[in-house]
Amino acid sequence: MYSDQVIEHFQNPRNVGEITDPDGVGKVGSPVCGDMMEVYIKVEDGRLADIKYKTFGCGAAVASGSMGTEMVKGKTLEEAMRITDQQVAEALGGLPEEKLHCSNLAAEGIQAAIEDYRSRNGISTG
Ligand code: FES
Repeated sequence: MYSDQVIEHFQNPRNVGEITDPDGVGKVGSPVCGDMMEVYIKVEDGRLADIKYKTFGCGAAVASGSMGTEMVKGKTLEEAMRITDQQVAEALGGLPEEKLHCSNLAAEGIQAAIEDYRSRNGISTG
């Protein structure tokens, strides 16, 4: 049912945890299943210097948080904002249809953390 990448990221998730004194925090919940994800970021020179996540979600959410945070680490905020649930799912070698919303938690959590950083710093995104 799951790809090797999903299983590998589920068993060895990257970037799990919390950042003390983060520059931005994103907390999102899935309307599909009610599970949640929290994303913490540190920003330096307009880039994601560090990123961590915690999820109260399923195995696919754990793998998506791991892969999603790896994909955007070191990227500019503009680049990171463009991450989509599809990109996360593709990087994981695909997700079963009924698990696609889990990758959305990761993409939305990352975007919400960046939006929080921007609003804390009075940066308007139009
Ligand atoms: Fe809820 Fe996967 S079933 S995040």
